[in-house]
Amino acid sequence: MIFYKTDAEVALMKEAALLVSKTLAEVAKVLKPGMTTLDIDTLCANYVKSHNAVLSFYKYHGYPHNICASVNDVVVHGFPNDVPLKNGDIVSIDLGVILNGWHGDHAYTFILGEVSEALLQLVKVTKESLYKGIEKAIINNRVGDISFAIQDHTERKYGYGVVRELVGHGLGRSLHEDPQVPNYGKRGSGSKMKENLVLAIEPMINLGTRDVFTDTDGWTVKTADGKVSVHFEHDVCVKKNEALILSDFSIIEAAEKANPHLNSSYC
Ligand code: MF3
Ligand code: CO
Repeated sequence: MIFYKTDAEVALMKEAALLVSKTLAEVAKVLKPGMTTLDIDTLCANYVKSHNAVLSFYKYHGYPHNICASVNDVVVHGFPNDVPLKNGDIVSIDLGVILNGWHGDHAYTFILGEVSEALLQLVKVTKESLYKGIEKAIINNRVGDISFAIQDHTERKYGYGVVRELVGHGLGRSLHEDPQVPNYGKRGSGSKMKENLVLAIEPMINLGTRDVFTDTDGWTVKTADGKVSVHFEHDVCVKKNEALILSDFSIIEAAEKANPHLNSSYC
């Protein structure tokens, strides 16, 4: 069942999405080698709680942490841990909040220091593919148009692996609502979209094989070949001519550019 939102509800969802963006911008300000993903978890939790919001991932289907921190070959759902981050790490931070009863859920991938051109390109193209998908989130298009645009840009054009096992989703009073938004698919397939459908679009793109496996902890999803995976996620609202992006990368990018420990040379 798809829940379309009223304009007032979309405005509230924008507040929730923006709180996630602001929190990720706080991460971008301080992230550096030597920090641990548990430090990032604590920072995010304090920031979210001090803004009167709830951390939605904590205890979701038993998830044991506040954020997902997915480093290098971890695709998504990585547990924050006490391993110091190092130069060359690729770190995806995924955060979900509930603010005034509405969910915000988005993710951003950071590059610590120097990495190969191949990895810079993977990060750049994954972010680009998210925007290619968002361009298709307009009324009378179908969900498959979003899926196709992401797959076309990453898999067909660059030969990257598009993860099949995890997908984007509707967002609202619940973290995961209908419809599912795969990052692969056929143009013109899936549900037709109407105004004020809110979606979390989240390409998970691998440098190598698309195949993944879940670690023995029951959550951590890793690439089968051990190569790097990148994840970006935006919350978007379907509109007539152009999707309304509820989350905001610009504040994260500004902090990223101002932080000498982060590599934003691909932006
Ligand atoms: N952004 C992810 C998703 O939409 C995060 C969920 S992690 C969980 O599925 F901990 F909440 F499960
Ligand atoms: Co999501």
